[in-house]
Amino acid sequence: MIISIGSTLLMGYVASYSYLKTKRLPKNDADKIQRIFANAGWVGKEDGEIRTIRLRRKTKIEGGTEYVYQLPLGFNRSKVEENVQILEDGLNVKQKVFRVSDLKKVKFNKSILKQLKKILNGKGFRKEIELDYDGMLIIRVFDSPMPEKVEWTDTLIKKNNWSVPIGVIRGKTIVHCFDRRKHLIVAGSTGFGKSVAVKMIITSLIMSKPNDVTFSLIDLKGGVAFNRFKDCKQVKNYGRNNEEALEILKLVQQDMNDEYEKIVDGGFEDVAEANISERHFLIIDEAADLAGDKEAMEILTDIVRKGRGAGFYIIYATQYPSAQAIPMQIKRNIPARLCYVLDSATASMTVLDGSGAEKLPEIPGRGIYKNVKQVILQTPFMTNDQIKERIKVHIQVKGDTENEPSSIPSAKNGKYSLITEKA
Ligand SMILES: Nc1ncnc2c1ncn2[C@@H]1O[C@H](COP(=O)(O)OP(=O)(O)OP(=O)(O)O)[C@@H](O)[C@H]1O
Ligand SMILES: [Mg+2]
Repeated sequence: MIISIGSTLLMGYVASYSYLKTKRLPKNDADKIQRIFANAGWVGKEDGEIRTIRLRRKTKIEGGTEYVYQLPLGFNRSKVEENVQILEDGLNVKQKVFRVSDLKKVKFNKSILKQLKKILNGKGFRKEIELDYDGMLIIRVFDSPMPEKVEWTDTLIKKNNWSVPIGVIRGKTIVHCFDRRKHLIVAGSTGFGKSVAVKMIITSLIMSKPNDVTFSLIDLKGGVAFNRFKDCKQVKNYGRNNEEALEILKLVQQDMNDEYEKIVDGGFEDVAEANISERHFLIIDEAADLAGDKEAMEILTDIVRKGRGAGFYIIYATQYPSAQAIPMQIKRNIPARLCYVLDSATASMTVLDGSGAEKLPEIPGRGIYKNVKQVILQTPFMTNDQIKERIKVHIQVKGDTENEPSSIPSAKNGKYSLITEKA
């Protein structure tokens, strides 16, 4: 005997639960997916007839199942990508089935309802979904949630490479390659992991390319995040207020123009073609504080536009992703985004050009990385002690010119006085 109990725990989307109203209950997730697509109107047209997706392959993968669907002609894939929540909610509409054996342990007393509820809740996780496309639509349904924390390990690093790890998805490392996507915007509400991510990126770059990377670090939160790096030999400029920021921006712009001239005069198109191995990173934490400074923003826009070819890359982190904090010119020139939870769909739209960041769970380090594709990841957590341990060999004591790397030309002429203070 089978007793079936249907419970719609997550109401809200008609498409996601309307199939429960049909006579035949869905047998499995593949069946549910098919019905959600039909109910949501995610269909195409072939020979004048409405057609829905067709399941071509189903494979067990680590932590879940992968479904591969053929799409009908005229299918608008972005509808699914923008509304992946409908699919996720639909798959989490609970359809519980108890066999008699399930009920053997239940005691028929006053707490019977509580006991049944416990069995129901104890059984299911909230399933999570990952979408992919390779000519077919790939839907991965995971039966267990992503971990809420991923500890840092040095194995995440690719040595001698401009790719840095920015997140992990179920054991797979997601990297951002600065030589392919030159700049990066990092956004998110306060306390959800922007500075942790940026510090991890700086440390990773120092570990991967100690002799080729240099930095200009602007920490407009009073230096709390970047202070630990200021004596690293790779750091040419360090500033923590708007005046210092403007000074640094001017220096970086000058350096960039000099470098660009060298590249163009040499008959090359960019730093890669000119076979120049050095790269400079201008990193601003709480960039919104600069947004009111017209001169600073003009210089920054110039660096964003011209820096790509000259090997001058920008990481622009902000807690306030408004149109003013991320001006259009900057946004347009920085297509790669790493976005942690935000408080509204409007803020998400500013960062990602779509909603989604407001629906992320409130877990520090859980973010959306948008490059060519958009993925949800968990950023590894590198602690301040781990950073200290990894950068200590690069810390330069004031006046210690012996350890000064010859690959940092500008540091030699003492032009960059802002880093000379030792804590
Ligand atoms: N990837 C992560 N994994 C686990 N915990 C994290 C992660 N990132 C951040 N945290 C936790 O959240 C705290 C705040 O993170 P962080 O300082 O990076 O926030 P923020 O986004 O820079 O905030 P603010 O805008 O206020 O500067 C950290 O001290 C840490 O405890
Ligand atoms: Mg911060």
